[in-house]
Amino acid sequence: MLDTKEFISWSDELSVGLQEIDEQHKILIILINRLFNEAILHKADKAVISAILEELVQYTIVHFTVEESLFRIFDYPDIETHQAHHDKLKQEALNFQKRFESGVTIDIELMHFLKKWLTHHIMMDDKKYTSFFLERGLKAKWSEQKSWIGKIWNSLKS
Ligand SMILES: [Fe+2]
Repeated sequence: MLDTKEFISWSDELSVGLQEIDEQHKILIILINRLFNEAILHKADKAVISAILEELVQYTIVHFTVEESLFRIFDYPDIETHQAHHDKLKQEALNFQKRFESGVTIDIELMHFLKKWLTHHIMMDDKKYTSFFLERGLKAKWSEQKSWIGKIWNSLKS
């Protein structure tokens, strides 16, 4: 078994205070960590890296879609700005994927770009909506039930 390392570590600093969203952010962190291990540490085959990147792009789209649904349902006032940031981030992820597919090697610099790509958005944009959602009655923590999005995502992968 090859050694694995955490490129991004989950910490309370990254928590937006809403478990449903935190769990989805953790999946994005897992995917970036997987990319780091395969691309940088293990120098894996292109097909392996390509599959992780595709999953990262797809899950990013799923995650942004969930957030934007919540914005519409609860009439979040800052929807346009946040959505514009999502569109930019989505485009950056797709460009990253395109560059890799056209032959660019993923180096540590590109990994740092991805780290910032995710953590900056969580810290600077996502954290802004927490108090609004809590005031509207969104639960900070799950009771017993597991996340439906996590369940769907896991069943798609198996
Ligand atoms: Fe967001």
